[in-house]
Amino acid sequence: MESNNNKTPVSKALFGDDFIWGVSTAAVQIEGAHDADGKGDSIWDVFARKKGKIRGNVHHYTACNFYNQYQNDIDLIKQLNIPNFRFSISWSRVMPNGTGAINQAGIDYYNKVIDYCLALGVEPWLTLYHWDLPHTLELKGGWTNREVINWFTDFIGVCARAFGDRVKHWMVMNEPSVFTGAGYFFGIHAPGKTGLSNFLPAVHHVTLSVAAGGKALREILPNAEIGTTFSCSYIEPYSDSPRNIAAAKRVDTLLNRLFIEPVLGLGYPFADLPVLKGIKKYMLPGDENKLAFDFDFIGLQNYTREIVKYSFFTPYIQASLVKAENRNVPVTTMGWEVWPQSIYHLLHKYNQYPQIKKVYLTESGAAFPDNREGDAVDDPMRVTYLQEYLQQVLKAKNEGCKVSGYFIWTLTDNFEWAEGYHPRFGIIYVDFETQQRIVKSSGKWYADFLS
Ligand code: NOJ
Repeated sequence: MESNNNKTPVSKALFGDDFIWGVSTAAVQIEGAHDADGKGDSIWDVFARKKGKIRGNVHHYTACNFYNQYQNDIDLIKQLNIPNFRFSISWSRVMPNGTGAINQAGIDYYNKVIDYCLALGVEPWLTLYHWDLPHTLELKGGWTNREVINWFTDFIGVCARAFGDRVKHWMVMNEPSVFTGAGYFFGIHAPGKTGLSNFLPAVHHVTLSVAAGGKALREILPNAEIGTTFSCSYIEPYSDSPRNIAAAKRVDTLLNRLFIEPVLGLGYPFADLPVLKGIKKYMLPGDENKLAFDFDFIGLQNYTREIVKYSFFTPYIQASLVKAENRNVPVTTMGWEVWPQSIYHLLHKYNQYPQIKKVYLTESGAAFPDNREGDAVDDPMRVTYLQEYLQQVLKAKNEGCKVSGYFIWTLTDNFEWAEGYHPRFGIIYVDFETQQRIVKSSGKWYADFLS
């Protein structure tokens, strides 16, 4: 196994003056105020009401109360010297039923957040879809209904016209493979649908929506920087056996290639994972030409690597992941292996696509058990994690890989979807009883690094 022996200390200067540094969040995970000021239900609001879906049966209805405390949290971003803040727009806050009527209070709220950022010299980066489909649209089939492409582009039009005079950086969608896989195949995320008959149409409509969303934004905002983000994990076979190598290739196709390749104009990777051919049933004549869009940037989000084994009994893919906890390797609270080289290999992998113009690492970070002692939270494991991942980013950059920015996931501890509040990913600790914030050692480290 490779070891991480590249221990050169990282400093901001080594990345160059143009490198973008930031922190990422998402509406459901921080805002709370799930029914405030005319907001409609999202699929997560409904999912969280069902018993047994979220660890500890908690919900995100208050979360970090960012909706009411945004000034305080943006002040903290400023205090930590973080120049760029990525956050997402809640579709059902802006359009309570997902289509038709606009909720002016929702627009006003995001305008206040954007204006506050700009007043402090913090650049806002907007994600348009971070997994919270309006529930009314889910009742009509959600991402399995082809109409969603029109609903989504209408929503994008509303946002572009409302915020585009001040927001320069846009991301159409966040991690399609995760929300379609967890939400429409395994049913462990909202809306809790399962099986191929939901997953495959969702994949196709999401892919078409990513491209249509990019086009809609560019038409309205020709000077904006427009991207979209993908989750990616470095995949390795468990051994050199041909069966394990082939299994690893299928998993790589599903996790790392399925969504990005059509966007880049390469079509779906049907040949390397035959079950995906089922998508063809949902394709209309001419769809092949509607899958691509020349994004200004691709956002890569990486946390770990996966080790893959052939598995006769796993339907459709005949492959399974060898859990990190069974491999005697360091893991995070999520059970994900800490393996900094992952980000290095993935930068090289995506740099092999000549169609990608620019890469930002739009999420990178880790959940560890943080111990609060009085008013201090020391999290040396997160500091080491961030330093080691950054060393690998620098190594790839120095070898000529395109990489133009790095955003830590995440600002404050928050609602980690089906895992509730148990995993703490923040560089700022949140006491969820009192909403008190405590800057962790990692937050202080980032502030020093950026100063
Ligand atoms: C990726 C997702 O975009 C984000 O919402 C999530 O909290 C992190 N990964 C950590 O799991």
